[in-house]
Amino acid sequence: MTRRGFFRKVVIGALSGAVGIIVSIPVIRLVINARPPGRLAWSRVGDITSLPHESPVAMNFEMRSAQAYMHQLILRDVWVIRHAGGNVTVFSPICPHLGCHYKWDPATGHFECPCHGSVFTVNGKVIGGPAPRPLDTLPHKIENGALYVQWERFRVGIPQKVRI
Ligand code: FES
Repeated sequence: MTRRGFFRKVVIGALSGAVGIIVSIPVIRLVINARPPGRLAWSRVGDITSLPHESPVAMNFEMRSAQAYMHQLILRDVWVIRHAGGNVTVFSPICPHLGCHYKWDPATGHFECPCHGSVFTVNGKVIGGPAPRPLDTLPHKIENGALYVQWERFRVGIPQKVRI
């Protein structure tokens, strides 16, 4: 083998290796970020130490979503009720009837859905309209005064709370 042929093989080998590394980076990132099936990620919602007691507050947060090797930040919102004892209730903002976003009405002290008129108490119980079940709560935890939630969606229009 000539010296030129040897160097040509070295350069081709090095370039092939570099291309292989570049191509495999998304796959490696996907494997590193993969969670076991069924495990939901915790998303930090924010500090709740200054929230009023027993009064629902809408809180927004960014949630990292990973599909294939695409990562994106998605804006979500939840209803948070801070209780006097230190616990909180976290409601999904999605109406269990057909999926609209409902609102808290401080004048009536109820959650009300504008789409078909479902009405819920501050505890999420249905007191009017077609909603087939109470408001859906979300798994949550509090660490150092900050609220974290596991975002999940449930099937709408049925009496059972079934995760999608
Ligand atoms: S979607 Fe809320 S009442 Fe129908």
